[in-house]
Amino acid sequence: MKKYYIKDIQQFKQKKIKFATITAYDYLSAKIINDLDFPLILVGDSASMVIYGYDDTTPISMDEMLLVLRAVVRGAKTSLVVADMPFLSYQPSIEETIKSAGTFIKNGANAVKLEGGGGGACERVRALVDSGIPVVGHIGLMPQSINASSGYSIQGKTERQASKIICEARNLEKSGIFSLVLEGLPENLAELITKQLNVPTIGIGSGKKCDGQIQVFHDVLGFDSSFLPKHAKKYLNGYDAIFQGLEKYKEDVKKMVFPGKEHSVNLNKKILKKVSENN
Ligand code: KIV
Repeated sequence: MKKYYIKDIQQFKQKKIKFATITAYDYLSAKIINDLDFPLILVGDSASMVIYGYDDTTPISMDEMLLVLRAVVRGAKTSLVVADMPFLSYQPSIEETIKSAGTFIKNGANAVKLEGGGGGACERVRALVDSGIPVVGHIGLMPQSINASSGYSIQGKTERQASKIICEARNLEKSGIFSLVLEGLPENLAELITKQLNVPTIGIGSGKKCDGQIQVFHDVLGFDSSFLPKHAKKYLNGYDAIFQGLEKYKEDVKKMVFPGKEHSVNLNKKILKKVSENN
């Protein structure tokens, strides 16, 4: 398998090939995703919840993201690795943006993603692209703005909001993004944006008309028994599978079924005899 570059992601759109992408947070998961030939892996700031157990994406730090990124990079030999810029790693200034994104690139990321479509976000995208760092944009529902937007909800439902989002998408494209995540948009609005842009759109909770899709690893594999976002589909009941596996291990230890003969070795009988006589 050959390494994916940003031009390969862009060619999916030109060739009208729909593509799936996914998040990853550790070495072995990244290796499986890579073996499946996923073209793009996002080291999402959703690690904040699924890896570190925070309530939302605002607390995760650069250092916490870097630990996860380095593990993923070791497993993802051919997939393009995009590192999500955590809250406050780019908002303060353009300098801070380049420093944070550059740190991700130095640690093996091939590109970064940041949220926002206003003037400030576009300036940051331009500065990154000028520094040789490819950028994925992210508009619509932006989880890092949970406090400003009073929770998570579908965006762009009114004429004014929809026009603003279309304008943001166009401005981000002009600023140099190579792809754009559309989160939590009505399907027909995401379709309109997808048709207007030359760069591929990657949807999450925005219907099937985007060029590609992205999902959170733990959602599609059903790790959380108590929560599944509306936009996600459970392809595996991971919680039950893991629960049952661990339950069986626990029981086997109690009943001395595990470890079995095949899991250990014995000392030669003569040596054992000598050892027990002399000790
Ligand atoms: O962090 C994340 O998981 C994301 C989504 C777009 C998948 O940003």
